[in-house]
Amino acid sequence: MDTGNEHITVEKKKEIGIITINRLEARNALNRKMLHELGDTLTCLENDLQIRVVIITGNKDFCAGADIKEMNEIKPEEIESFCRWGHKVINQIENMGKPVIAAITGFALGGGCELAIACDIRIAGKAAKFGQPEVNLGLIPGFGGTQRLSRLVGIARAKEMILTGKIIDAKEAESIGLVNRVVKDEELMIAAEEMAQVIAQKAPIAVKMAKTLINENQEIERGLEKEINLFAQCFATRDRPEGINAFLEKRKPEFKGI
Ligand code: HXC
Repeated sequence: MDTGNEHITVEKKKEIGIITINRLEARNALNRKMLHELGDTLTCLENDLQIRVVIITGNKDFCAGADIKEMNEIKPEEIESFCRWGHKVINQIENMGKPVIAAITGFALGGGCELAIACDIRIAGKAAKFGQPEVNLGLIPGFGGTQRLSRLVGIARAKEMILTGKIIDAKEAESIGLVNRVVKDEELMIAAEEMAQVIAQKAPIAVKMAKTLINENQEIERGLEKEINLFAQCFATRDRPEGINAFLEKRKPEFKGI
């Protein structure tokens, strides 16, 4: 389906809409244009009566997070609205009236991991890797990760991932409940489409209501709002440019806590 998008493509296979993130040169890192394209694509699929299930995947990698180079150019006074916008797009996935399956290949880091955990179900290829490495940049997760990860894997595991920034493999991700299932990399889309097909055969209104009710239990809004606020505060510290510049210069950061 030609959407005119540059980095977010969409293919329709009967009742299944497949969104692919495609920005190979930056490991599918999300810039502002891509967030825009992703939001528009989700709206299209939400309104498309033929589509019953959505799959989100990536070309080679799932997504290495927000575009760090672009983020470095955002002024501290503008970061809150950027973060709020990211939340809006990620919330669209969670609040969509159709199930969304993440089919994860390669890296799902930072905002990419947050994108995956906002989906209803996650299937990973064996070589997939997950992490919330924002602390390495002097930041915190800013697309809902501080709230959704602990609900998914428990507070202890979420704290370990977010505070150490460590990257875990698909097997560990499965063992802590971060992904539903791990399959051979070459069978990832087959497995995701099979599961999507099973759900697509069920009664759409019942599926939508079940999803809505399970999400209702999460009571996430207050924490999400606070995350936006504290992300902006972190972004205003001097450790943030140190962390981001260290990444861009491929060196270790020296954080001072100011
Ligand atoms: C911009 C990125 C990027 C990112 C990778 N690249 N991740 N560019 N934003 N998030 C670019 C690299 O700069 C590099 O460009 C190219 O992709 C290939 O990456 P390499 O680092 O050379 O590859 P490799 O050594 O294999 O390491 C892969 C990697 C690493 C582990 C994924 O790139 C990495 O750690 N990336 C950053 C992950 C991260 O910190 N994500 C969180 C972002 S903050 P060049 O030009 O050198 O070839 C975030 C916050 C969300 O997501 C909330 C915001 C409000």
